[in-house]
Amino acid sequence: MTFALRSLCEADIPEVGRIEREAFPTLWPRAPIKNDMKNKRIIYLVATLLHPEEAPGHEEEPPPDPLAEYPMPLRLIRNVTDRLWPNSGPAAPTNDTPLGYVCVWFLTEEAHITAIAVKESWRGQGLGEVLLGGAIETAMRRKSRVVTLEVRVSNHGAIALYEKYGFKRVGVRKRYYSDNREDANIMTTEPILSLSYQRKFLELRDAYFKRRGAVETSLGLAGA
Ligand SMILES: CC(C)(COP(=O)(O)OP(=O)(O)OC[C@H]1O[C@@H](n2cnc3c(N)ncnc32)[C@H](O)[C@@H]1OP(=O)(O)O)[C@@H](O)C(=O)NCCC(=O)NCCS
Repeated sequence: MTFALRSLCEADIPEVGRIEREAFPTLWPRAPIKNDMKNKRIIYLVATLLHPEEAPGHEEEPPPDPLAEYPMPLRLIRNVTDRLWPNSGPAAPTNDTPLGYVCVWFLTEEAHITAIAVKESWRGQGLGEVLLGGAIETAMRRKSRVVTLEVRVSNHGAIALYEKYGFKRVGVRKRYYSDNREDANIMTTEPILSLSYQRKFLELRDAYFKRRGAVETSLGLAGA
């Protein structure tokens, strides 16, 4: 399987919204992604499959249609609205369907990752690394000094991912999450343009490519 990484386009918004709701059900709704897209300080990257046909057993099923059990007249109306406004029904998976996304805010010196999520059925296959690596690479191109983020203290999988890429815990925000008042670890990298970090990052990328294969990236489009 070859993964691809590119910047978000408007057609991705419904699928990214679904991934967001699945990953962060208690923090939704939030500000519309469409508004973020107008802000030059915010970027979204999405990871996709370059050749979906190479992924046997991963044929995506459309989400269950909530109207399937409804009486015929309602289903007829639904057919008509689907033709008139194709986005009003479940999104049909395409070759370019996002499997995960990352959102980064560029502040004065710092690139702050506000969200990173992979579709549940695709976790554990290297997509989180593709997204985090892409965010860090974009931050390097934009000459950010460090990359920072907050993460729930209980989110051991995400913390392991960040630690792999050199993030260290530098503080705690007490009761940061409004849903369960959980604390957040504040994590940050060392300066990402330092020789030591660049070396570490390149080693990680090399190890990734050897283990999982190349990633097709078009980060030039990511506002870098
Ligand atoms: C966190 C998340 C983005 C990771 O994505 P992923 O595609 O599953 O991660 P990858 O397969 O690329 O894993 C890369 C590394 O992350 C770490 N990791 C990821 N999931 C892990 C888990 N469940 N347990 C332990 N380590 C884990 C490992 O270090 C792994 O490297 P390895 O393969 O060499 O062991 C994904 O689990 C997710 O979407 N979670 C829900 C949303 C979320 O919590 N986001 C973070 C908010 S701060």
